[in-house]
Amino acid sequence: MTDPLFPIPPRDLPISAASPGKCIVFGEHAVVQGAPELLFAIDLTTQVVVTTGPATRLNADGEAPRKNPYFGSALNLAWQGGPPLEVRSVSRIPKAAGLGSSAALVACLAATFGAARGGVDRSRLAQRSFEIERGAQGVGSPGDTSTVVAGGFVAINGGPGSPLWSVSAPDHEWQVRRVNDPGWVWVLAYSGIPHSTGDAVRAVTARLREPGGPALLDRFREVATEGIDAVGRGDRGRVAALLARNQELLREVGVSHPRLEALIAAAAPAAEGTKLTGAGVGGSVLCLPVPGKETELVRRLARAGGLPFVVRPAPAGVALVEP
Ligand code: PMV
Repeated sequence: MTDPLFPIPPRDLPISAASPGKCIVFGEHAVVQGAPELLFAIDLTTQVVVTTGPATRLNADGEAPRKNPYFGSALNLAWQGGPPLEVRSVSRIPKAAGLGSSAALVACLAATFGAARGGVDRSRLAQRSFEIERGAQGVGSPGDTSTVVAGGFVAINGGPGSPLWSVSAPDHEWQVRRVNDPGWVWVLAYSGIPHSTGDAVRAVTARLREPGGPALLDRFREVATEGIDAVGRGDRGRVAALLARNQELLREVGVSHPRLEALIAAAAPAAEGTKLTGAGVGGSVLCLPVPGKETELVRRLARAGGLPFVVRPAPAGVALVEP
């Protein structure tokens, strides 16, 4: 297999790139404060095709540089001084669902713009994708963008795996490491309720600054540290128990939602463990199915109003493809 960390080579426009989405197994929200997080890239993708045009547009929309903060931020931070671009994007990742649609779009734009400007290595691409996403959201961690750039399983600020890169913001630095894929099938379900990552992150950040906040953050830290270790060892029983514990913490910081709780309850007979994944307050749940009960799990989640996806970790991150 080719090295998933190969650089993005130089290319002339038109250029196309495809990126996986992502899901968070442990540690969302706490990662923004520097705690560990575990994520993996999922085999639902976004693809973009970028070429020059008379005016800059995204999917034929000339207002997009102003209306779409991710597109606007990418143009600002990675295409200053360049010619107008005609960009098309097609995605199988539901939007505002906690499944990495914005990280995938940002990584595709950063990769195509980087290719057009002489190529870019992956650690630089991870830093740039994070800056573009944070430029659009105002807050956040590099977990999502580093995962769609690296592919596979990724730990932020934890684990004994080989270091991939570090990503920095003026107030924080995050270490990004590889975690072995234990080879399991996972099931995700979108609740149908879109969320705002920025609003959820600001609310949780405020909660963690209240009395009891630091102790709560320590519990997030413990669960994610143990979770990274358990996934690395392929210990399903431990991972399942930790998914439930992480969900309790997410409830405690106020980012669960009745529709997510309904999906978690519906999944229970066919899932070893289930938690919300991403910023919460809507968005999606991640389930570790009881082996052999994947189809039953999908049926249960759909009956409870979810949009289920059976996913496998995508081993490779964003890459150029033939336009
Ligand atoms: O945008 P989402 O729903 O995938 O949430 C990202 C995870 C957070 O930890 C809540 C924010 C972040 O940037 O890490």
